[in-house]
Amino acid sequence: MSKLSGDALEHRLEELLRTGSFPPPPEFAQNALWKDPSVVAQAEADPLAWWEAQADALDWERRWDTVLDWSDPPFAKWFIGGRINASYNCLDRHVEAGLGDRVAFHWVGEEGEARTLTYGWLHQEVQKAANALKALGIGAGDVVGIYLPMIPEVVVAMLACARIGAPHNVVFGGFSAEAVRERMEFSEAKALITVDAARRRGKAAPVKAEVDGHMTSLDRLEHIVVVRNTGTECPMTEGRDVWWDQILAAADPVCPAEGFDAEHPLYVLYTSGSTAKPKGILHTTGGYLTCAAYTHRHVFDLKPEQDVFWCSADVGWVTGHTYIVYGPLMNGATSVMYEGAPDYPHRAIWWELCERFGVTIFYTAPTAIRACMSWGAEEPNKHDLSSLRLLGSVGEPINPKAWLWYQQVIGGGRCPIVDTWWQTETGAIMISPMPGVTAAKPGSAMRPLPGITADVVDNEGNPISEGQGLLVIRRPWPSMLRTLYKDPDRYVETYWNRFGRDVYVVGDAARMDADGDIWILGRIDDVINVSGHRLSTAEVESAIVSYPHVAEAAVVAQSDDLTGQAIVAFVTPEEGLDTDGLDDKIREHIAEVIGKLARPKRIIWTHDLPKTRSGKIMRRLLRDIAEGRELGDVTTLRDPTIMASLTERIAARQHEED
Ligand code: WT7
Repeated sequence: MSKLSGDALEHRLEELLRTGSFPPPPEFAQNALWKDPSVVAQAEADPLAWWEAQADALDWERRWDTVLDWSDPPFAKWFIGGRINASYNCLDRHVEAGLGDRVAFHWVGEEGEARTLTYGWLHQEVQKAANALKALGIGAGDVVGIYLPMIPEVVVAMLACARIGAPHNVVFGGFSAEAVRERMEFSEAKALITVDAARRRGKAAPVKAEVDGHMTSLDRLEHIVVVRNTGTECPMTEGRDVWWDQILAAADPVCPAEGFDAEHPLYVLYTSGSTAKPKGILHTTGGYLTCAAYTHRHVFDLKPEQDVFWCSADVGWVTGHTYIVYGPLMNGATSVMYEGAPDYPHRAIWWELCERFGVTIFYTAPTAIRACMSWGAEEPNKHDLSSLRLLGSVGEPINPKAWLWYQQVIGGGRCPIVDTWWQTETGAIMISPMPGVTAAKPGSAMRPLPGITADVVDNEGNPISEGQGLLVIRRPWPSMLRTLYKDPDRYVETYWNRFGRDVYVVGDAARMDADGDIWILGRIDDVINVSGHRLSTAEVESAIVSYPHVAEAAVVAQSDDLTGQAIVAFVTPEEGLDTDGLDDKIREHIAEVIGKLARPKRIIWTHDLPKTRSGKIMRRLLRDIAEGRELGDVTTLRDPTIMASLTERIAARQHEED
């Protein structure tokens, strides 16, 4: 097929927008792992037997006695009595099967330097790192923070923790040092693994020096392990800080993998909720691994001997945990891992790497697809992408136009697309097309995977056969979060309190169409999804008001063509504060408190916010203003005139930007 661009591409996309659904290409369907929709009924007939069969794909030191204990909902226990080691399943079993030389990762650095990481190499490094951590006094149950860029050591560090039963707590590199401190404090981390500096667009950005000052108040934190990455000098505190290469060199190279209880914590990962305090999502071992391996193999139709898989996420998000590290490694896959940004050193770097490594399965986020669209089809068209056979999307609803562009320009019209819906909490993909079976509709995540039950319900919890409502999950599933770390009450309150203790309330609105297919509409809580990254309005507000002489702030989401949603902050200064030039300072302050990703796109200064007579901020009205919608009833406001002035201000701001 010839490559499309410009008007011809536009024309083709317009034409395809009228096509309702896209069945898998016959050749794909013939060779797919799932060829037959009957697996759905099979799983439905006996869900526990289905999950047992999936768990049997892993290597257990001891098989479980009882598949599920749901006697105390919403606290689930899966594969009770089973013992298993995550790193054994990712590494040892492949090495023992003679696959030590198989490539686990084609790693590529920002400057184009490549490293080939085999299963055998990872196996050796992980054992050394595991012993090195043990020598520092880290044992089963001790939390280890990981704040690393996309370098090979991040995978080694995660698996070394898993090997010795020390739950890891990875913090995305885009978060600030203060955000790291908070997450280390909440999880009572005993050690933190970080780097001297990270490469960012050709420069070395200091990391250890930034983190250092924030760690002194943590009395539980005994060690900081520093990976020498760029050779940038950094402060090292005697007795507390050690170099990664030194402790690995001194470590015993053999660390046998010991089985842990299936419900032993594997990791905690913080994500944003509706309050300013991030939630520590806790995942345990046996169930999480089961779903990670199951979904990675079947949703991506993985044939480990032939495929080259690339998930472009960062390991700091759950997508990276499940589909860069645990899923692919358990399945013995060969993956690509890229250190840099999608437009560094140039806007065709992803496609250059796809061609170079013969990538067959590519998994990314809608926001990235839209960015690529805006750079033009000429960039991917420079490269031979004919090795690709399946594409995936995750993180936010994908608009049909971006779906079609992805399908045509990247997939050459021959690759099925899996629009995968899931969350940090669910641990693994829950709703997705079955690539060899489902006729996918652009913009719909379609149906729950075999073994999963999802429903769209009304405000009373009654299922809606067609129409809009709340998305819920009805049955426990193996990779469900077990609790919020050290906060079981908030766990119950947040997810299981609306329709009873056995209905998981996802926090997304969704529409069920006449065919029974699900369309995710977005969050219903005060969570903003910027480029597929979850941020809490309360967290951003609290960062803004911590700036000197800011009286009040209200943060809402605004639709954005590129990032899906963007942050708009309405901010009230204390009397007498000169707000000239203050926008940048507030943004900088937010970058320090949370991270650059939380900086508002727009800051609107106002002497007051729309409030009810009892003083409650009417966020609904602010959202209407931000979206330029017709304003609803404003008569309940204490000061109705405020609305006109805010509407004017935001219009003026948008005008300035254009
Ligand atoms: C929220 C979870 C799961 C990895 C990335 C985000 C939104 C996720 C989709 C999709 C529409 C999606 C939801 C969800 N979301 N995937 N395919 N279609 N929306 O993980 O940070 O835990 O965010 O992302 O709103 O609740 P997360």
